[in-house]
Amino acid sequence: MNSAATGTASGFEPFDQLATMVALVAPDGRCLQANSALENVVGLSRRTLRRGSILDWLADPAQLGDTLQLVARNAVASSRFDAHMKRTAAGNGELPVHVIVSQTEAPDRVLVEMIEIEQQIRLDREERTHGLAQANKELVRNLAHEIKNPLGGIRGAAQLLAMEVSSKELNEYTRVIIQEADRLQALVDRLLAPHRRPQVVADVNIHEVCERVRSLILAEFPRGLTLSRDYDTSIPEFRGDREQLIQAVLNIAHNATHALAERIAQGDATLVLRTRVARQATFGRQRFRLALELHIEDNGPGVPEDIRDRIFHPLVSGREGGSGLGLTLAQTFVQQHQGTIECDSVPGRTVFKILIPLP
Ligand SMILES: Nc1ncnc2c1ncn2[C@@H]1O[C@H](COP(=O)(O)OP(=O)(O)OP(=O)(O)O)[C@@H](O)[C@H]1O
Ligand SMILES: [Mg+2]
Repeated sequence: MNSAATGTASGFEPFDQLATMVALVAPDGRCLQANSALENVVGLSRRTLRRGSILDWLADPAQLGDTLQLVARNAVASSRFDAHMKRTAAGNGELPVHVIVSQTEAPDRVLVEMIEIEQQIRLDREERTHGLAQANKELVRNLAHEIKNPLGGIRGAAQLLAMEVSSKELNEYTRVIIQEADRLQALVDRLLAPHRRPQVVADVNIHEVCERVRSLILAEFPRGLTLSRDYDTSIPEFRGDREQLIQAVLNIAHNATHALAERIAQGDATLVLRTRVARQATFGRQRFRLALELHIEDNGPGVPEDIRDRIFHPLVSGREGGSGLGLTLAQTFVQQHQGTIECDSVPGRTVFKILIPLP
């Protein structure tokens, strides 16, 4: 192809891959280049952008004006501050941004980067929780390993004891020991489960996963629960472990059914499985051109406030009899697909969103 003619002479295209807004400007603010993220937010075409001044797009342009001069004069090499961008296209409100102004090799060209502050906060939070979650999981896994061996010993000894004693009363004690050891064993097995079976990777159709979960849940709750689906059937297949994904979605859907217990009894519980394609999605500290979004939405009372930011941690449960492992396992499985799970919850509407990169 005629690449020399199609690529703009500036070589600015690589910046189009960035989630942050980038512009190359003259010291007086005149825009020389802008990337597509900036184009999207300002809502003007690149051509129109290039005829304007970057100062026109800020609600509070004074500081940027001064900073451009300082950086161009080399009074400072770079500078950062917070500002507000106007959203021309959407016509609605202002967008808080963090602005970074830096020198380029040419003295009459200054590079301006603008990062949405919300996006920055979200990325920081994701990073923090990711680190914490990893440490937590490792701790729990090591602990589970430590418990496993002595547990086998305790159970074995209780069994031997049971054969030795003839008194019914004493046998009741050994029965309790064995039963509780088995309960603990089941817990430990669940904790270690995601690391025991290797991933089985094949082409996965997400709607097959959803349909399987749907039939399992419907079999369990034939009445009182409306389970609707809202699929984007154009979603391509991707490489993954079908069983792991079924388990992940099932754990989330099960939680919803627990939260919906009252409504199921009343007969007005709803659970929605929704699939969408997200473009240029950023999660797990990476940006993906295409990603699958799977929403599992219920109309239950919402995640209890006091555990809302910890529900993915192991052993955190808000319900009687819960072991607090369902979401930890779901998250581990989704992360093994380079994906992430988010939760939005208010009384009456709780959405768990699974994001997985698509090819
Ligand atoms: N859809 C939801 N609505 C309300 N609360 C929820 C929802 N999903 C999860 N939760 C809360 O998050 C907690 C953690 O869920 P998780 O699946 O990890 O553990 P669990 O359901 O308590 O136990 P387990 O799944 O191991 O049997 C739940 O106990 C519940 O309080
Ligand atoms: Mg659960």
